[in-house]
Amino acid sequence: MTLCLGIESTAHTFGASLVDDRGKIYSNASKTFTTKKGGLIPAKLADHHLEYCDRVIEEATQGFHDFDLISYSAGPGIGNALRIGSSMALYLSKLLKKPLIGVNHCIAHLEIGSMLTKLENPILLYVSGANTQVIAYEGGRYRIFGETLDMGVGNFLDSVARELGLGFPGGPKVMRLAAKSKNLIELPYVVKGMDISLGGIFTNVKQKIELHMREDICYSIQETVFAMLLEVAERALAHCEKTELVLGGGVCCNSRLQDMAKKMCKANSYKCGIPKNDFLVDNAAMIAWTGLLMHQAGVKTEPGIRPYERTDQVEVSWRN
Ligand code: ATP
Ligand code: FE2
Repeated sequence: MTLCLGIESTAHTFGASLVDDRGKIYSNASKTFTTKKGGLIPAKLADHHLEYCDRVIEEATQGFHDFDLISYSAGPGIGNALRIGSSMALYLSKLLKKPLIGVNHCIAHLEIGSMLTKLENPILLYVSGANTQVIAYEGGRYRIFGETLDMGVGNFLDSVARELGLGFPGGPKVMRLAAKSKNLIELPYVVKGMDISLGGIFTNVKQKIELHMREDICYSIQETVFAMLLEVAERALAHCEKTELVLGGGVCCNSRLQDMAKKMCKANSYKCGIPKNDFLVDNAAMIAWTGLLMHQAGVKTEPGIRPYERTDQVEVSWRN
């Protein structure tokens, strides 16, 4: 058995997890930076992660005296935050003389979803704070078939939440308010080819905020933006001739988005895989699992961070 310690710190969450090469998850500890009012301030993230990193790693490794491998999120993400996780991982790898692997965070979302839902060749609808992409494996890489042209859906929801005075993270609060409405306010619907754009919708929503109930705003942004996401996902599935959809990213915790994904899959006789919330949001188990896959395929990485690494820049030698 090979046991991997994974460390995640791309953004608001510092996480550590132990996973073995059969996919057994022994621990999945995390501490998330939150605020009552206002958004996420990058400079404060590093302080937060530094304060909690030792406790989170201790919690994840409790009862284990040894492991074989250390992996960490190398990117994409916020430099200040990434540096804490990568430094801890490098330090531990030197101290314990274990191999070190830097993992692409977006790819890790896909790998954990694929493993947990037992879908072997899915399209990933990856909807998080900073990222919104439709990803599939083709020709030795994970290719991006559609994506947001400006902000990620999570950041969009968080920004609208901030305008409504709801605090960070806004996604869950928007979801709760949306459930109280059925009043659809007309908003721009912006799908360009396989991509979506949210900047125009955000401007439009800001202009309408004073005129409507918060519940109606929340309901309408969800209905509009989630429909855009599923339109792109559906088209990518048809284009790639794949029949499995897996969800990843914190926004996919949203039960309305999950319902819409299930409906779309049912209508097309596709399989729909939805991991539990703990593995949709940023988590270290996905980093540990992907580190294991890479290590077993003989992949070696340079230490350090890659804040701007794109999904399709990574050569994927562990899948065929
Ligand atoms: P990434 O680094 O992959 O871009 P991230 O760091 O933003 O991701 P995630 O945990 O994947 O982290 O996603 C966070 C986003 O998910 C936030 O924008 C948050 O508002 C949103 N979110 C969390 N729970 C829900 C929910 N129930 N409904 C909608 N959005 C949610
Ligand atoms: Fe993420």
